[in-house]
Amino acid sequence: MLASFGLFLSETKETMSTTIGIASDHAGFELKRELIPWLEKNGYTVKDFGANSSERSDYPDFGHPLATAVEKGECRFGVGICGTGIGISITMNKHQGIRAALCWEPEIARLTRAHNDANVLSLPARFISTDEAKKIVDTFLSTSFDGGRHAERIRKIPVK
Ligand code: RB5
Repeated sequence: MLASFGLFLSETKETMSTTIGIASDHAGFELKRELIPWLEKNGYTVKDFGANSSERSDYPDFGHPLATAVEKGECRFGVGICGTGIGISITMNKHQGIRAALCWEPEIARLTRAHNDANVLSLPARFISTDEAKKIVDTFLSTSFDGGRHAERIRKIPVK
């Protein structure tokens, strides 16, 4: 799993400085805590938007600031985590510049990058293991957008 991640990281110097924003509620806090050092070990700069503990909290309080940072280009990609991954993806998809994709296996992560140019990965912490999450993140970050016919579809997504 890390082989493809490592290969991706060694491909471009630019990748080494890619900033990933990450946010969760209480349900995603433990998974977020596992993912941050793992991403850093693999060359990413990580900006943590909270939550800062597993005390009960509300995912919009963390999802909106992460979405804003991705929209502004302060983070190349976002990773949003809650129990199902749904609340935080609904929240972040309210932002016109966000395409947040709920992924529970690597192939879906690959397809959403290739076809939807997703800029936020949403993870369901209560339904996947840490190892599964790492495989999903690895695939998401190492897959490029296919462009072509998919670019025209993406152009039509924002509400005017
Ligand atoms: C928290 O209990 C849970 O509702 C939240 O993490 C998320 O799954 C909502 O979509």
